[in-house]
Amino acid sequence: MNILLRAHSGLRYVVLALLLAAIFTAYSSWKSNKQGDNKIYLFALIATHTQLLIGLVLYFMSPKVNFSLISEKVFRFYSIEHVFMMLIAIVLITVGRVRSKKVEGADKHRTVLYFYALALIIILAAIPWPFRNLGSGWF
Ligand code: HEM
Repeated sequence: MNILLRAHSGLRYVVLALLLAAIFTAYSSWKSNKQGDNKIYLFALIATHTQLLIGLVLYFMSPKVNFSLISEKVFRFYSIEHVFMMLIAIVLITVGRVRSKKVEGADKHRTVLYFYALALIIILAAIPWPFRNLGSGWF
């Protein structure tokens, strides 16, 4: 449980870095009319799906997931808000990637840009940053 939690916590930075890199690549490839796919889109997808897998295991083990204590902020956050928002973000990234593969030419990068950027905003909002007082740290 502890190893998984540390991995899940640290991987947030990998996810954020890959998403930022993918968004930046998508924007510049779209603007410069580049053809073809970019592997960074796939890597960002894999990183978020890894978070999903670890997160699912944590969800069934974590003492912070408890529906009888749902009126308390921390339990509500981990039992509902965190999972729900992260699932939406991961679906957006998956749909963005799948759709972009069907789009011809440089427009595929625009598709990635819109879906990944929206997902990034949701992920940033759903991370239990220390200043939100949800009992989690920076790592
Ligand atoms: C991109 C997606 C995700 C990111 C970046 C992310 C990030 C994080 C971070 C930073 C923490 C705090 C870790 C700590 O206290 O040190 C956390 C906790 C947690 N996450 Fe996620 N998460 C993601 C997706 C998910 C998903 C999809 C689930 C469930 C299906 C999930 C379930 C949990 C649970 C249950 C905890 C609390 C564990 C505990 O402290 O006992 N996460 N997550």
